[in-house]
Amino acid sequence: MKRYLELDPWNIVENSFNDINNKVSESIFSLGNGYMGQRANFEEGYTGSTLAGTYMAGIYYPDKTKFGWWKNGYPEYFAKVLNCTNWIGIDVYIEDTKLDIAQCDVSNFSRILNMKEGYLYRSFIATLKSGNEVKIETKRFVSIVDKEIGAIEYSITPLNFNGNITISPYLDGDIKNEDANYDEKFWETISKQTGLGNAYLTLKTKKTDFYLCSAMKYDIFKDNAKVACEIEMIEKEKLVGNVVRLNLIKDERMTIFKYVANVTSRDFKIHELTEIAKQKLNKAYIKGFSKMAEEQANAWEEKWKASDIIIQGDLAAQQAIRFNIFQLNQTYTGEDSRLNIGPKGFTGEKYGGSTYWDTEAYCVPFYLSTADEKISKNLLIYRYKQLDKAKENARKLGYKKGALYPMVTMNGEECHNEWEITFEEIHRNGAVAYAIYNYVNYTGDKEYLTRYGVDVLIEISRFWEERVNYSQEKNKYVILGVTGPNEYENNVNNNWYTNRIAVWTMEYTIKVLSNIKDEEPKKYEDLIKKLKIQVSEVDKWKDIIENMFYPKNEKLGIFLQQDGYMDKEQILVDALPKENLPINKHWSWDRILRSCFIKQADVLQGLYFLQHLYDLETIRKNYEFYEPRTVHESSLSPCIHSILASKLDMKEKAYEMYLRTSRLDIDNYNDDTEDGCHITSMAGTWMSIVEGFGGLKVKDDILTLDPSIPKEWQLFSFKIRYRGFLIKVKVTENSIEITNDSSEKLHIIVKKKDYIILGSITIKV
Ligand code: BGC
Repeated sequence: MKRYLELDPWNIVENSFNDINNKVSESIFSLGNGYMGQRANFEEGYTGSTLAGTYMAGIYYPDKTKFGWWKNGYPEYFAKVLNCTNWIGIDVYIEDTKLDIAQCDVSNFSRILNMKEGYLYRSFIATLKSGNEVKIETKRFVSIVDKEIGAIEYSITPLNFNGNITISPYLDGDIKNEDANYDEKFWETISKQTGLGNAYLTLKTKKTDFYLCSAMKYDIFKDNAKVACEIEMIEKEKLVGNVVRLNLIKDERMTIFKYVANVTSRDFKIHELTEIAKQKLNKAYIKGFSKMAEEQANAWEEKWKASDIIIQGDLAAQQAIRFNIFQLNQTYTGEDSRLNIGPKGFTGEKYGGSTYWDTEAYCVPFYLSTADEKISKNLLIYRYKQLDKAKENARKLGYKKGALYPMVTMNGEECHNEWEITFEEIHRNGAVAYAIYNYVNYTGDKEYLTRYGVDVLIEISRFWEERVNYSQEKNKYVILGVTGPNEYENNVNNNWYTNRIAVWTMEYTIKVLSNIKDEEPKKYEDLIKKLKIQVSEVDKWKDIIENMFYPKNEKLGIFLQQDGYMDKEQILVDALPKENLPINKHWSWDRILRSCFIKQADVLQGLYFLQHLYDLETIRKNYEFYEPRTVHESSLSPCIHSILASKLDMKEKAYEMYLRTSRLDIDNYNDDTEDGCHITSMAGTWMSIVEGFGGLKVKDDILTLDPSIPKEWQLFSFKIRYRGFLIKVKVTENSIEITNDSSEKLHIIVKKKDYIILGSITIKV
């Protein structure tokens, strides 16, 4: 753990500058609005350690697959979210020296991510080699009110001299992805236009033909008065901008307000892009920076009203949960069902910005409880729309029927090419099915099932039917050659989690079909015809359900992660010398594969999903066996363990795992935050509080809570939306207060007792 950021309830604060931390900070201080995102790169540029990152949701490039040894079935490309036009750029020259904090002395540095109001602030004093000192202050945001708009306030004050300051606001299309397989540039410049005080740049992606038009305008102030300056236009092959020269006297502050609109051909016709960018930009320019900043703060206040979690008595935990909620709200807003949530969101290139099973397994619950129902529905619709591609994917691999959703995708096609993941991590299909159950169970929206969900369930069940095989020797169905969620072992047979989720999917599909038959016989008939459902295939599913093989160790009373797991040398993580951790950085892959160490929840992932089907004793025995063997080297791991530990009343463990998941990035636990923040695991952090410490569940259409508070906290409170209610839950050591401000009565079960709530009740515990 490397904590260099200050503790604060509403802000992330960095109070001194160190190049070593810069890439980590660039990730942590990222801004986004669901439509675009921006790493915390410096406006004036920086020649030290930096990863430039400007992203537009859904703009990707199919980068030709790089492979060591081609295997039939590999996808031709890996879809990558692209680094887009650098719109934040403002070069600064003090006399003739370019401001670059890698090349001067920096003092009084402060970088603040204000999560309450949604902006990034930075200030510092730069002492140049000439001895000239300037104070720089910047504030910027990407608007959550006008999603195409980004705005920057950038001020320069000479502290010990009178002199010339030159500033150059620009738009730069000469960008590349650090993660480009063949070092190729993915954009070409289509058009440029430069005026006095404005500039426009349109780029197009190669192959995918996405167009992006960026437009900028700015104003310059001296102290508080707008000034007209000497301006020069600059136009390079891929860059447009202006150069503005000013004379400043000591302590005189100049400020540039730069406004940018980014519009794309995903939303508008290509020939209209420049005009629309101009209109949007003008609207923002007329509104002005302060008005927009005020609207931004108000919009964030609304978001926080629905999703804030308060923790009293533990500043580190409070700051962390707000950071996680802030980043999730910055990443996905759910208005566009073509979009999804990349594991790094808008904070880095890693994982290509593509969709993983993370969305269904981890993110859906957060959006279900903190946002309107249509937001999580859109995440489900995304997969529904990609069903044909998932069927195609199964065909490509040789399956006659069913659908296999990709492990990694941008447009529904598989784009990952490590055989052990692409071909073997088929458990992702189970998560897609589980999310449908989760959504319907939480919202009660059965119509979703009949219109969309059942199609997906049928095709996934058909896939499982074909993927299992009957073992004569075991007299059971088996699933061979898979990788479970634990990626530290591949090509295993009978991964308990995969076998279990496959059977569960078939059971759920049959149940859904039978409910539709009972409740809407006409629709059922239509479905049978539309999906060509055969009695024989449903009978086959029933047979598989009854006769699936599950590896177990009866003596220990546990499910076995896979066949032969107990043949491995059984060592606990605690017995490993600390220097060996993380093992993925210190051990050969060979050693990892042979060891018993588990990357992330596997059997326990299944017991988390299906906890309503298992008794506490079973969950406890499995937890006590597997957790000590788990190295948690996937960010997705600690949250599941925290939730299960809460359920098992293992309070210290639950808290330890909570801190680990929630501060994973702020404290750079796994030493990899420079690549970007672990956005999808942040939803798991939220689950650790609401489902873990809060004990939230929906069972038989009734909301159920079973809260308990970690001893380190004096109070915690969270809000959830549930079927039209906005409910606030406040927990202390001795009391649980529940508020339902709506005009309808809420039936809720708290600690196994029924309550009907209108207004507030306080339950003593
Ligand atoms: C995990 C996967 C996950 C991926 C993206 C990997 O390290 O093992 O389960 O889907 O990261 O978050």
